[in-house]
Amino acid sequence: MNVWRRLSGQRRALALAGAGALVAGGLVTLPVTAAHAATQCDVTWTTNDWQGGFTANVTIRNIGDAVNGWTLGWTFPNSSQRVVQGWSAEISQTGSQVTARNLSYNGSLASGASTSFGFNGSWSGSNPKPTSFTLNGTVCNGGTTPTTPPTTPPTTPPTTPPTTPPTTPPTTPPTTPPVGGPRVDNPYLNARGYVNPEWKAKAESVPGGNRISNTSTAVWIDRIAAIEGTDNSQSNGPMGVRDHLDEALRQGVDYIQFVIYNLPGRDCAALASNGELKADELPKYKAQYIDPIKAIQGDAKYRNLRIINIIEIDSLPNLVTNTSGNPGGTAMCDTVKANGAYVNGVGYALAQLGSIPNVYNYIDAAHHGWIGWDSNFTPTANILRDASRASGASAANVHGFIVNTANYSALKEPYVKITDSVNGQTVRQSKWIDWNQYNDELTFAQAFRNELVRVGFDANIGMLIDTSRNGWGGAARPTGPGPSTSVDAYVNGGRVDRRIHAGNWCNQAGAGLGERPTAAPEPGIDAYVWVKPPGESDGSSREIPNTDGKGFDRMCDPTYTGNARNGNSMSGALGDAPISGAWFPAQFTQLMQNAYPPLS
Ligand code: BGC
Repeated sequence: MNVWRRLSGQRRALALAGAGALVAGGLVTLPVTAAHAATQCDVTWTTNDWQGGFTANVTIRNIGDAVNGWTLGWTFPNSSQRVVQGWSAEISQTGSQVTARNLSYNGSLASGASTSFGFNGSWSGSNPKPTSFTLNGTVCNGGTTPTTPPTTPPTTPPTTPPTTPPTTPPTTPPTTPPVGGPRVDNPYLNARGYVNPEWKAKAESVPGGNRISNTSTAVWIDRIAAIEGTDNSQSNGPMGVRDHLDEALRQGVDYIQFVIYNLPGRDCAALASNGELKADELPKYKAQYIDPIKAIQGDAKYRNLRIINIIEIDSLPNLVTNTSGNPGGTAMCDTVKANGAYVNGVGYALAQLGSIPNVYNYIDAAHHGWIGWDSNFTPTANILRDASRASGASAANVHGFIVNTANYSALKEPYVKITDSVNGQTVRQSKWIDWNQYNDELTFAQAFRNELVRVGFDANIGMLIDTSRNGWGGAARPTGPGPSTSVDAYVNGGRVDRRIHAGNWCNQAGAGLGERPTAAPEPGIDAYVWVKPPGESDGSSREIPNTDGKGFDRMCDPTYTGNARNGNSMSGALGDAPISGAWFPAQFTQLMQNAYPPLS
């Protein structure tokens, strides 16, 4: 976890593999004229559609000279149309532009020969057919320099029927949506959440913990071994993903929350939650982490559970604010930005897990004290959008976003409004707010939701706010505004968030439990949730050797005087903390004492 605010400014254009879409089951044959005499083709496009999805079969007939290697290009007329998964061609999509390339076995097309490929796609609104195609860069339908457009249909039929490609296309393309859906708009509404027995036992080991131990908290899948279950790590119990899902069925609950948290080069701007995968291990992330989770979550026996995945905390915002050119930018953030590990890893997680009809993906979107500045706000929305289109993902795989995960930003600041001014000076110029546009998580979450829709996400996305540790109650909580002697006196006297700096993120002294999980508490907010299980450490306050890959981050050391990312302030961290994820009973006691709303 960590924070920062500065503009990175530059975004990468992402080439997307997969994703696509098509319309109402139709068939269109486009005569393909040639830009130069040698290239001519017919494209036959048949689709099988259902609400939101479709299967396309595309046949290219070469009516020009023989080609050795082909690329078919087209533009989807509707920006929602996405290729999800293809076969018999390598299909990639950037924006609405799609290219399909031959595989090794079907690149040669004799004059008169045909070849077919297909894909599953998604769409919303409408699913129109592309109006033209290019073959190897030459416009097929009304090319720029068609010398002799064909006046008659090609006479030569394919000399050979398409041979069976070695990769197996789906034997029966889906004609109806997968069973188990459709998803509900808000999976938390009128729904009971899973109580993690491992967290419950830890909570009940601390006096008074039984007051909240039946609260639903998320299950963090923070390493490959956590999928099957492990008892040799300091931050996980022996229950694996299947154990938790079975227990959820036994509890008869409606939803269960998992945190997908194992990207290559994880936690690139901090050390406390570094993980097991190296920056270049994206293939391992896919094959040994996401794929096995998909196999379990997709088991038909769990189909009636709403499985909620919180996707990769802190990852994409780090690419905006913690790369070169930003204060405190790190080499690891540069590496995972340059090699695409985060964007493609998140895209893969979204696409794979999002293909399960009862799975709801919420992507992490940092918090107001990180991306609330103008310079970070839109760039972060854009990179989230890019990731949602990477590796075969589409907006349909994103149910919403979560803010404040494992952080401490106050939900509401009742005595300091961002629009307040003191003696003619805006509170935005106080040291605490430091020109941020937001001063609390609720208004930030609602505004960021609008921004996400503006950059291309579905209008019905919902936000979650992690309120596990942002309560800020107890005796030190202000009961009214601060004095109007200066903006700093006003803000510091009235703010309920009592951190030294809004960039402090590790085991914060004085914090309390926040709002208990609640569905649909405010417009645009699907739920207040407890994703960080209260009482689990954010990081060790001194170096502790461990086999979990966890580093020592000085932001967790109470004697640390800070760095560029927290305005060179003291860390505000509690002492004697164990490594991230490990049980920290003293913190749990403090969180209960300072709960807001208070515990009865
Ligand atoms: C740690 C994880 C842990 C999670 C929940 C993260 O900071 O890195 O290992 O599972 O917190 O406590």
